[in-house]
Amino acid sequence: MIQIQNLHHRYPDGTYALKGIHLTISKGEFILLCGPNGSGKTTLFRAMGGLLKPSEGSILINGFDAFKDSFQVRQRVGLVFQDPDCQIVGETVREDIAFGPENLGLTQKEVSERVNWAMEMMGLQGLSEKPCYLLSGGEKKRLAIAGVMAMKPEVILFDEPFSSLDYPGIQEVLRYMIHLHQEGHTLMVTTHDVEKVIAHITRMAILRHGEIQALGEPEHLVKGLSQFGVRPPCYVLLGKEKMTWLE
Ligand SMILES: Nc1ncnc2c1ncn2[C@@H]1O[C@H](COP(=O)(O)OP(=O)(O)OP(=O)(O)O)[C@@H](O)[C@H]1O
Ligand SMILES: [Mg+2]
Repeated sequence: MIQIQNLHHRYPDGTYALKGIHLTISKGEFILLCGPNGSGKTTLFRAMGGLLKPSEGSILINGFDAFKDSFQVRQRVGLVFQDPDCQIVGETVREDIAFGPENLGLTQKEVSERVNWAMEMMGLQGLSEKPCYLLSGGEKKRLAIAGVMAMKPEVILFDEPFSSLDYPGIQEVLRYMIHLHQEGHTLMVTTHDVEKVIAHITRMAILRHGEIQALGEPEHLVKGLSQFGVRPPCYVLLGKEKMTWLE
């Protein structure tokens, strides 16, 4: 479903952020992308979402080139930005969530159903008419996720979705991810807190200095994470077997 070949990216100031990424992702996978600050995670997601023209190499999503066929790719790939302020475009919560489904050409009734559903999923019902700029940090994060949810894209890239969320918020996002995964969507998530998702992912990739330095099943990689600058989950540090945040 997603084929990334020999992907390099150099920013105009010379920063060499991605250095030859190769990655093939099948439909329905749930992949954790982890790595230290500045390792290239957000750059890779932006390239996959068609928001950045890579210096070299290609990304194909269902056969469409992520950058050249950006119209088709934006209908299929949803990106939850690390910084919600980069994503919020509407004046009020309701208007902001409606923006994506309206652009998909849905009817007013369908748009309204999706908006109500996404607000309910992310616990935003009481805030529907509130101006977005007055929201708290965690509420903005919920709104950014709701906006992508309302578009129901085949592929969703979550860039640090748990940052600034409270415990119920983290659980809601996790439940939503698991639900999407069960429905056959393809998911990728970045987080510095591996333990939040480890019990639910199918594969993990470790990015460092713009290269994928390890790729495989979580059980195989989880004990060696610290050598890549990634904190192992608490249960590994405590010598326990497995852990989920959903109990
Ligand atoms: N617009 C830009 N111009 C120049 N350099 C950039 C730009 N955006 C990112 N970089 C650099 O590219 C590298 C990768 O950044 P990126 O944001 O992809 O890292 P990341 O893995 O998402 O980090 P974090 O965990 O902090 O979110 C960093 O060295 C960063 O300074
Ligand atoms: Mg980032």
